Amino acid sequence: MIGPGARGPAGDAAPPFAAVAAMPSTTEMSLRAFLQTPHARMPDYRLTTAELDGVVGWILAQKSR
Ligand code: HEM
Repeated sequence: MIGPGARGPAGDAAPPFAAVAAMPSTTEMSLRAFLQTPHARMPDYRLTTAELDGVVGWILAQKSR
């Protein structure tokens, strides 16, 4: 299912983007840093600058929902 309450393939382990956006510690810079470093339970994405811009913008856009 796709939508605000959708869960990813990791089920309950991965926070929904809306929950990530709502965390006080989440900023554009924190997302860029997170997405450019490896994380044990997450696939090792290598995003281009354009992809990074899009994903960061998308997550931050969930802030007010
Ligand atoms: C475009 C794809 C993805 C993006 C942009 C993304 C982004 C993020 C972000 C920003 C967090 C940080 C939450 C925090 O700061 O606490 C996170 C955590 C996490 N993600 Fe992803 N994620 C993606 C795909 C995935 C996939 C496909 C999986 C699983 C197969 C996954 C598994 C996890 C898990 C388990 C966490 C929990 C925190 C951790 O272990 O570090 N993610 N993700």
